Amino acid sequence: MNPSDQSIPDITEDVHRTLEQLGVRDAAALGHLFSQIESRLNEEIAQLREKASDAEAIEAFRVRWLGRKQGIVRGITDNWLKSAPPELKREVGQRLNALRQNAERGIEQIEKPPTLKFATSEVIGVRDSVSSVQLAESNQLDVTLPGNRRPIGVRHILRQAIDEITKIFVLLGYSVEEGPEIESVYYNFEALNIPEDHPSRDDQDTFYIDRQTVLRTHTSPVQIRTMEKRQPPTRIIVPGKVYRNETPDASHSWMFHQVEGLAVDTNITFADLKGTLDHFMKAYFGSKVRTRFRPSFFPFTEPSAEVDVSCIFCGGAGCRVCKGTGWLELGGCGMVDPAVFACVNYDASQYCGFAFGFGVERPAMLKYGIQDIQQFFQGDIRFLRQFR
Ligand code: PHE
Repeated sequence: MNPSDQSIPDITEDVHRTLEQLGVRDAAALGHLFSQIESRLNEEIAQLREKASDAEAIEAFRVRWLGRKQGIVRGITDNWLKSAPPELKREVGQRLNALRQNAERGIEQIEKPPTLKFATSEVIGVRDSVSSVQLAESNQLDVTLPGNRRPIGVRHILRQAIDEITKIFVLLGYSVEEGPEIESVYYNFEALNIPEDHPSRDDQDTFYIDRQTVLRTHTSPVQIRTMEKRQPPTRIIVPGKVYRNETPDASHSWMFHQVEGLAVDTNITFADLKGTLDHFMKAYFGSKVRTRFRPSFFPFTEPSAEVDVSCIFCGGAGCRVCKGTGWLELGGCGMVDPAVFACVNYDASQYCGFAFGFGVERPAMLKYGIQDIQQFFQGDIRFLRQFR
Protein backbone atom coordinates (compact mmCIF):
# COMPACT_ATOMS: atom_id res chain seq x y z
CA MET A 1 0.00 0.00 0.00
CA ASN A 2 1.39 3.32 -1.02
CA PRO A 3 1.09 5.74 1.91
CA SER A 4 0.95 8.70 -0.46
CA ASP A 5 -2.59 7.86 -1.61
CA GLN A 6 -3.88 8.12 1.93
CA SER A 7 -5.71 11.28 2.89
CA ILE A 8 -4.92 10.83 6.57
CA PRO A 9 -1.22 11.37 7.41
CA ASP A 10 0.73 8.26 8.07
CA ILE A 11 1.97 8.66 11.60
CA THR A 12 2.65 4.97 12.02
CA GLU A 13 6.39 5.71 11.99
CA ASP A 14 5.80 7.23 15.42
CA VAL A 15 5.40 3.80 16.92
CA HIS A 16 9.15 3.34 16.70
CA ARG A 17 9.70 6.12 19.20
CA THR A 18 8.66 6.31 22.84
CA LEU A 19 5.94 8.57 24.15
CA GLU A 20 8.57 10.68 25.78
CA GLN A 21 10.46 11.10 22.52
CA LEU A 22 7.16 12.08 20.91
CA GLY A 23 6.53 14.68 23.58
CA VAL A 24 3.33 12.97 24.77
CA ARG A 25 3.02 13.62 28.48
CA ASP A 26 -0.65 13.85 29.33
CA ALA A 27 -3.96 12.11 28.56
CA ALA A 28 -5.03 14.76 26.05
CA ALA A 29 -1.92 14.35 23.93
CA LEU A 30 -2.19 10.59 24.21
CA GLY A 31 -5.86 10.69 23.09
CA HIS A 32 -4.89 12.78 20.08
CA LEU A 33 -2.09 10.42 19.14
CA PHE A 34 -4.32 7.35 19.33
CA SER A 35 -7.18 8.90 17.43
CA GLN A 36 -4.79 9.72 14.57
CA ILE A 37 -3.60 6.16 14.43
CA GLU A 38 -7.18 4.85 14.68
CA SER A 39 -8.31 7.04 11.80
CA ARG A 40 -5.44 5.75 9.81
CA LEU A 41 -6.43 2.16 10.55
CA ASN A 42 -10.06 2.79 9.60
CA GLU A 43 -9.01 4.39 6.35
CA GLU A 44 -6.82 1.45 5.41
CA ILE A 45 -9.61 -1.00 6.25
CA ALA A 46 -12.04 0.99 4.11
CA GLN A 47 -9.58 0.93 1.20
CA LEU A 48 -9.07 -2.76 1.58
CA ARG A 49 -12.82 -3.33 1.47
CA GLU A 50 -13.43 -0.98 -1.45
CA LYS A 51 -10.89 -2.66 -3.62
CA ALA A 52 -12.42 -6.08 -2.87
CA SER A 53 -8.89 -7.05 -1.93
CA ASP A 54 -7.28 -10.35 -2.67
CA ALA A 55 -5.65 -12.61 -0.10
CA GLU A 56 -2.23 -11.06 -0.75
CA ALA A 57 -3.37 -7.52 0.06
CA ILE A 58 -5.13 -8.73 3.19
CA GLU A 59 -1.97 -10.53 4.29
CA ALA A 60 0.11 -7.38 3.71
CA PHE A 61 -2.35 -5.48 5.89
CA ARG A 62 -2.15 -8.13 8.57
CA VAL A 63 1.66 -8.03 8.63
CA ARG A 64 1.68 -4.21 8.70
CA TRP A 65 -0.70 -3.91 11.65
CA LEU A 66 -0.56 -7.20 13.50
CA GLY A 67 2.80 -8.64 12.46
CA ARG A 68 4.53 -10.23 15.46
CA LYS A 69 7.92 -8.61 14.95
CA GLN A 70 7.44 -5.41 12.96
CA GLY A 71 3.71 -4.77 13.22
CA ILE A 72 2.33 -1.44 14.39
CA VAL A 73 0.60 -3.07 17.33
CA ARG A 74 3.89 -4.66 18.33
CA GLY A 75 5.62 -1.27 18.01
CA ILE A 76 3.10 0.42 20.27
CA THR A 77 3.46 -2.36 22.82
CA ASP A 78 7.23 -2.13 22.87
CA ASN A 79 7.76 1.59 22.56
CA TRP A 80 4.67 3.30 23.99
CA LEU A 81 3.23 0.90 26.55
CA LYS A 82 6.32 -0.48 28.26
CA SER A 83 7.90 2.90 28.96
CA ALA A 84 4.68 4.81 29.51
CA PRO A 85 4.46 6.91 32.68
CA PRO A 86 2.36 5.06 35.29
CA GLU A 87 -0.60 7.48 35.06
CA LEU A 88 -0.93 6.87 31.29
CA LYS A 89 -0.24 3.15 31.25
CA ARG A 90 -3.81 2.03 31.73
CA GLU A 91 -5.09 4.30 28.96
CA VAL A 92 -2.35 3.18 26.56
CA GLY A 93 -3.21 -0.45 27.31
CA GLN A 94 -6.91 0.04 26.64
CA ARG A 95 -6.49 2.01 23.43
CA LEU A 96 -3.93 -0.51 22.23
CA ASN A 97 -6.32 -3.41 22.83
CA ALA A 98 -9.11 -1.63 20.99
CA LEU A 99 -6.78 -0.94 18.09
CA ARG A 100 -5.76 -4.59 17.84
CA GLN A 101 -9.38 -5.70 17.93
CA ASN A 102 -10.34 -3.22 15.22
CA ALA A 103 -7.58 -4.46 12.98
CA GLU A 104 -8.57 -8.09 13.57
CA ARG A 105 -12.24 -7.37 13.01
CA GLY A 106 -11.45 -5.43 9.84
CA ILE A 107 -9.73 -8.47 8.37
CA GLU A 108 -12.47 -10.79 9.51
CA GLN A 109 -15.16 -8.70 7.89
CA ILE A 110 -13.39 -8.43 4.59
CA GLU A 111 -12.74 -12.14 4.48
CA LYS A 112 -16.23 -13.01 5.68
CA PRO A 113 -18.86 -10.25 5.49
CA PRO A 114 -21.02 -10.18 8.63
CA THR A 115 -23.97 -12.47 8.82
CA LEU A 116 -27.05 -11.62 10.79
CA LYS A 117 -25.90 -13.98 13.54
CA PHE A 118 -22.59 -12.20 13.79
CA ALA A 119 -24.28 -8.83 13.85
CA THR A 120 -26.76 -9.87 16.50
CA SER A 121 -24.35 -10.99 19.17
CA GLU A 122 -21.76 -8.44 18.20
CA VAL A 123 -23.84 -5.34 17.87
CA ILE A 124 -25.90 -5.68 20.99
CA GLY A 125 -22.72 -5.88 22.98
CA VAL A 126 -21.10 -2.83 21.45
CA ARG A 127 -24.24 -0.75 21.12
CA ASP A 128 -23.26 1.74 23.79
CA SER A 129 -19.62 2.08 22.97
CA VAL A 130 -19.83 2.36 19.19
CA SER A 131 -21.60 5.17 17.39
CA SER A 132 -24.06 4.39 14.62
CA VAL A 133 -21.64 5.97 12.18
CA GLN A 134 -19.06 3.39 13.17
CA LEU A 135 -21.70 0.68 12.84
CA ALA A 136 -22.52 1.86 9.34
CA GLU A 137 -18.84 2.03 8.45
CA SER A 138 -18.19 -1.43 9.73
CA ASN A 139 -21.02 -2.66 7.52
CA GLN A 140 -23.02 -4.17 10.34
CA LEU A 141 -26.74 -4.39 10.57
CA ASP A 142 -27.89 -2.66 13.74
CA VAL A 143 -30.58 -5.07 14.83
CA THR A 144 -31.33 -2.98 17.89
CA LEU A 145 -32.87 -0.17 15.82
CA PRO A 146 -36.68 -0.22 15.84
CA GLY A 147 -38.10 -1.91 12.74
CA ASN A 148 -40.75 -0.71 10.31
CA ARG A 149 -44.05 -1.61 11.87
CA ARG A 150 -46.52 -2.97 9.33
CA PRO A 151 -49.94 -3.30 10.92
CA ILE A 152 -51.41 -6.76 10.47
CA GLY A 153 -54.77 -6.64 8.73
CA VAL A 154 -57.63 -9.10 8.85
CA ARG A 155 -59.23 -11.08 6.10
CA HIS A 156 -62.42 -9.35 5.04
CA ILE A 157 -65.40 -10.87 6.83
CA LEU A 158 -66.82 -12.03 3.48
CA ARG A 159 -63.57 -13.70 2.62
CA GLN A 160 -63.68 -15.44 5.99
CA ALA A 161 -67.25 -16.57 5.33
CA ILE A 162 -66.35 -17.87 1.86
CA ASP A 163 -63.30 -19.68 3.22
CA GLU A 164 -65.37 -21.28 5.95
CA ILE A 165 -68.07 -22.42 3.53
CA THR A 166 -65.45 -23.68 1.09
CA LYS A 167 -63.72 -25.69 3.78
CA ILE A 168 -66.92 -27.53 4.67
CA PHE A 169 -67.36 -28.66 1.07
CA VAL A 170 -63.69 -29.40 0.46
CA LEU A 171 -63.87 -31.84 3.36
CA LEU A 172 -66.72 -33.57 1.49
CA GLY A 173 -64.49 -33.98 -1.56
CA TYR A 174 -65.57 -30.92 -3.55
CA SER A 175 -63.11 -28.80 -5.47
CA VAL A 176 -63.31 -25.07 -6.08
CA GLU A 177 -64.03 -23.59 -9.52
CA GLU A 178 -64.26 -20.01 -10.67
CA GLY A 179 -65.69 -18.31 -13.70
CA PRO A 180 -65.87 -14.85 -15.29
CA GLU A 181 -68.04 -12.12 -13.80
CA ILE A 182 -68.54 -10.68 -17.28
CA GLU A 183 -70.47 -13.51 -18.85
CA SER A 184 -72.13 -14.32 -22.15
CA VAL A 185 -75.90 -14.52 -22.43
CA TYR A 186 -75.37 -18.08 -23.57
CA TYR A 187 -73.75 -19.26 -20.31
CA ASN A 188 -75.76 -17.03 -18.00
CA PHE A 189 -79.15 -17.97 -19.49
CA GLU A 190 -79.42 -20.12 -22.61
CA ALA A 191 -77.35 -23.11 -21.63
CA LEU A 192 -79.15 -23.10 -18.29
CA ASN A 193 -82.44 -23.59 -20.07
CA ILE A 194 -83.63 -20.08 -19.21
CA PRO A 195 -85.90 -19.09 -22.10
CA GLU A 196 -85.83 -15.71 -23.76
CA ASP A 197 -88.98 -14.47 -22.00
CA HIS A 198 -88.02 -15.56 -18.46
CA PRO A 199 -88.32 -12.65 -15.96
CA SER A 200 -84.67 -12.95 -14.87
CA ARG A 201 -83.70 -11.99 -18.41
CA ASP A 202 -85.60 -8.77 -18.03
CA ASP A 203 -83.52 -5.58 -18.14
CA GLN A 204 -84.86 -4.84 -14.68
CA ASP A 205 -82.67 -7.48 -13.09
CA THR A 206 -79.72 -7.86 -15.38
CA PHE A 207 -76.87 -5.50 -16.19
CA TYR A 208 -76.32 -5.85 -19.93
CA ILE A 209 -72.98 -4.82 -21.36
CA ASP A 210 -74.18 -5.50 -24.88
CA ARG A 211 -76.83 -7.79 -26.37
CA GLN A 212 -74.66 -10.86 -25.89
CA THR A 213 -72.86 -9.94 -22.68
CA VAL A 214 -74.03 -9.48 -19.08
CA LEU A 215 -72.63 -9.17 -15.61
CA ARG A 216 -73.50 -12.66 -14.41
CA THR A 217 -76.66 -12.72 -12.35
CA HIS A 218 -75.74 -15.97 -10.60
CA THR A 219 -72.86 -18.44 -10.34
CA SER A 220 -74.78 -21.15 -12.23
CA PRO A 221 -73.01 -20.46 -15.58
CA VAL A 222 -69.91 -22.04 -14.03
CA GLN A 223 -71.88 -25.32 -13.89
CA ILE A 224 -71.94 -25.26 -17.69
CA ARG A 225 -68.34 -24.15 -18.08
CA THR A 226 -67.17 -26.94 -15.79
CA MET A 227 -69.22 -29.69 -17.45
CA GLU A 228 -67.94 -28.58 -20.86
CA LYS A 229 -64.37 -29.08 -19.61
CA ARG A 230 -64.73 -32.34 -17.71
CA GLN A 231 -66.45 -35.66 -17.61
CA PRO A 232 -68.22 -36.96 -14.47
CA PRO A 233 -67.81 -37.67 -11.66
CA THR A 234 -67.93 -33.95 -10.82
CA ARG A 235 -68.12 -32.30 -7.42
CA ILE A 236 -67.49 -28.58 -7.43
CA ILE A 237 -68.40 -25.46 -5.57
CA VAL A 238 -68.16 -22.02 -7.11
CA PRO A 239 -67.87 -19.04 -4.80
CA GLY A 240 -68.01 -15.68 -6.52
CA LYS A 241 -69.54 -12.28 -7.16
CA VAL A 242 -72.86 -11.84 -8.94
CA TYR A 243 -74.68 -8.69 -10.07
CA ARG A 244 -78.34 -7.72 -10.19
CA ASN A 245 -79.91 -4.41 -10.96
CA GLU A 246 -81.43 -3.78 -7.56
CA THR A 247 -81.86 -0.63 -5.53
CA PRO A 248 -79.51 -0.84 -2.55
CA ASP A 249 -80.98 -1.02 0.94
CA ALA A 250 -80.22 -2.84 4.20
CA SER A 251 -80.84 -6.25 2.62
CA HIS A 252 -80.19 -5.63 -1.08
CA SER A 253 -77.07 -4.83 -3.01
CA TRP A 254 -76.45 -4.71 -6.77
CA MET A 255 -73.39 -6.88 -6.19
CA PHE A 256 -73.26 -9.81 -3.80
CA HIS A 257 -71.75 -13.26 -3.49
CA GLN A 258 -73.05 -16.74 -4.12
CA VAL A 259 -71.75 -20.22 -3.66
CA GLU A 260 -72.84 -22.64 -6.36
CA GLY A 261 -72.61 -26.39 -5.93
CA LEU A 262 -72.74 -29.15 -8.52
CA ALA A 263 -72.41 -32.92 -8.15
CA VAL A 264 -72.74 -35.22 -11.14
CA ASP A 265 -72.29 -38.98 -11.14
CA THR A 266 -74.11 -42.13 -12.16
CA ASN A 267 -76.52 -42.62 -9.28
CA ILE A 268 -77.09 -39.43 -7.37
CA THR A 269 -80.49 -38.94 -5.75
CA PHE A 270 -82.46 -36.14 -4.18
CA ALA A 271 -81.60 -37.74 -0.83
CA ASP A 272 -77.92 -36.99 -1.51
CA LEU A 273 -78.81 -33.36 -2.14
CA LYS A 274 -80.79 -33.14 1.09
CA GLY A 275 -78.08 -34.86 3.11
CA THR A 276 -75.36 -32.65 1.68
CA LEU A 277 -77.17 -29.37 2.37
CA ASP A 278 -78.32 -30.56 5.80
CA HIS A 279 -74.71 -31.38 6.66
CA PHE A 280 -73.59 -27.98 5.39
CA MET A 281 -76.15 -26.06 7.47
CA LYS A 282 -75.21 -27.96 10.62
CA ALA A 283 -71.50 -27.43 9.96
CA TYR A 284 -71.97 -23.72 9.30
CA PHE A 285 -74.64 -22.74 11.85
CA GLY A 286 -74.29 -25.46 14.48
CA SER A 287 -75.54 -29.00 14.89
CA LYS A 288 -78.90 -27.94 16.32
CA VAL A 289 -80.33 -26.46 13.13
CA ARG A 290 -82.78 -28.35 10.91
CA THR A 291 -83.32 -27.96 7.19
CA ARG A 292 -86.50 -27.83 5.16
CA PHE A 293 -87.01 -28.23 1.41
CA ARG A 294 -89.98 -26.58 -0.29
CA PRO A 295 -91.00 -27.34 -3.86
CA SER A 296 -89.97 -24.57 -6.23
CA PHE A 297 -89.00 -23.95 -9.81
CA PHE A 298 -85.72 -23.23 -11.61
CA PRO A 299 -85.38 -23.75 -15.38
CA PHE A 300 -82.11 -25.69 -14.89
CA THR A 301 -83.22 -28.13 -12.17
CA GLU A 302 -86.08 -30.62 -12.06
CA PRO A 303 -87.40 -31.14 -9.49
CA SER A 304 -86.41 -27.90 -7.79
CA ALA A 305 -86.60 -26.75 -4.20
CA GLU A 306 -85.96 -23.82 -1.92
CA VAL A 307 -83.89 -24.73 1.10
CA ASP A 308 -84.62 -23.19 4.49
CA VAL A 309 -82.78 -23.47 7.78
CA SER A 310 -84.54 -23.35 11.14
CA CYS A 311 -84.20 -19.88 12.62
CA ILE A 312 -80.84 -19.64 14.38
CA PHE A 313 -82.20 -17.01 16.77
CA CYS A 314 -85.43 -18.57 18.05
CA GLY A 315 -84.72 -22.19 17.14
CA GLY A 316 -87.95 -22.37 15.17
CA ALA A 317 -90.39 -20.89 17.68
CA GLY A 318 -90.88 -17.75 15.62
CA CYS A 319 -89.27 -14.33 16.15
CA ARG A 320 -88.72 -10.97 14.52
CA VAL A 321 -85.82 -12.14 12.36
CA CYS A 322 -87.74 -15.09 10.84
CA LYS A 323 -90.92 -13.00 10.77
CA GLY A 324 -92.65 -15.51 12.99
CA THR A 325 -92.19 -18.43 10.59
CA GLY A 326 -89.38 -20.21 12.43
CA TRP A 327 -87.47 -20.60 9.12
CA LEU A 328 -84.87 -18.63 7.19
CA GLU A 329 -84.69 -18.95 3.40
CA LEU A 330 -81.21 -19.64 2.18
CA GLY A 331 -81.12 -20.71 -1.44
CA GLY A 332 -82.27 -22.76 -4.36
CA CYS A 333 -81.47 -26.30 -5.41
CA GLY A 334 -82.63 -29.30 -7.38
CA MET A 335 -81.70 -32.20 -9.62
CA VAL A 336 -79.87 -31.09 -12.77
CA ASP A 337 -82.39 -30.80 -15.61
CA PRO A 338 -81.71 -33.22 -18.50
CA ALA A 339 -81.98 -30.23 -20.85
CA VAL A 340 -78.83 -28.83 -19.21
CA PHE A 341 -76.99 -32.13 -19.70
CA ALA A 342 -77.98 -32.00 -23.35
CA CYS A 343 -76.29 -28.61 -23.71
CA VAL A 344 -72.95 -29.99 -22.49
CA ASN A 345 -73.25 -33.37 -24.24
CA TYR A 346 -73.57 -35.39 -21.07
CA ASP A 347 -75.60 -38.54 -21.59
CA ALA A 348 -78.70 -37.89 -19.45
CA SER A 349 -79.61 -41.58 -19.46
CA GLN A 350 -76.29 -42.39 -17.80
CA TYR A 351 -75.64 -39.40 -15.54
CA CYS A 352 -77.60 -37.48 -12.97
CA GLY A 353 -76.75 -34.93 -10.37
CA PHE A 354 -77.81 -32.09 -8.15
CA ALA A 355 -77.05 -28.38 -8.01
CA PHE A 356 -77.57 -25.70 -5.44
CA GLY A 357 -76.88 -22.01 -5.04
CA PHE A 358 -77.06 -19.71 -2.07
CA GLY A 359 -75.91 -16.27 -1.11
CA VAL A 360 -72.94 -15.64 1.16
CA GLU A 361 -73.94 -12.31 2.71
CA ARG A 362 -77.23 -13.38 4.22
CA PRO A 363 -75.97 -16.40 6.16
CA ALA A 364 -72.97 -14.34 7.30
CA MET A 365 -75.28 -11.53 8.46
CA LEU A 366 -77.32 -14.03 10.46
CA LYS A 367 -74.28 -15.74 11.90
CA TYR A 368 -72.45 -12.54 12.92
CA GLY A 369 -75.48 -10.39 13.68
CA ILE A 370 -74.76 -7.86 10.90
CA GLN A 371 -77.78 -5.60 10.31
CA ASP A 372 -77.00 -3.95 7.00
CA ILE A 373 -75.62 -5.68 3.88
CA GLN A 374 -74.03 -2.38 2.78
CA GLN A 375 -71.52 -2.63 5.62
CA PHE A 376 -69.73 -5.43 3.77
CA PHE A 377 -68.85 -3.08 0.93
CA GLN A 378 -68.23 0.28 2.60
CA GLY A 379 -64.73 -0.57 3.75
CA ASP A 380 -65.19 1.05 7.15
CA ILE A 381 -62.25 -0.19 9.14
CA ARG A 382 -64.17 0.06 12.42
CA PHE A 383 -66.64 -2.47 11.07
CA LEU A 384 -64.06 -4.73 9.45
CA ARG A 385 -61.65 -4.98 12.36
CA GLN A 386 -64.35 -6.45 14.59
CA PHE A 387 -63.98 -9.75 12.74
CA ARG A 388 -60.55 -10.90 13.75
N1 PHE B 1 -78.87 -19.80 -9.55
C1 PHE B 1 -80.05 -19.78 -8.70
C2 PHE B 1 -80.28 -18.35 -8.21
O1 PHE B 1 -79.40 -17.53 -8.31
C3 PHE B 1 -79.92 -20.70 -7.52
C4 PHE B 1 -79.82 -22.14 -7.89
C5 PHE B 1 -78.59 -22.70 -8.15
C6 PHE B 1 -80.97 -22.91 -8.00
C7 PHE B 1 -78.50 -24.05 -8.48
C8 PHE B 1 -80.90 -24.24 -8.34
C9 PHE B 1 -79.66 -24.80 -8.56
O2 PHE B 1 -81.32 -18.03 -7.71
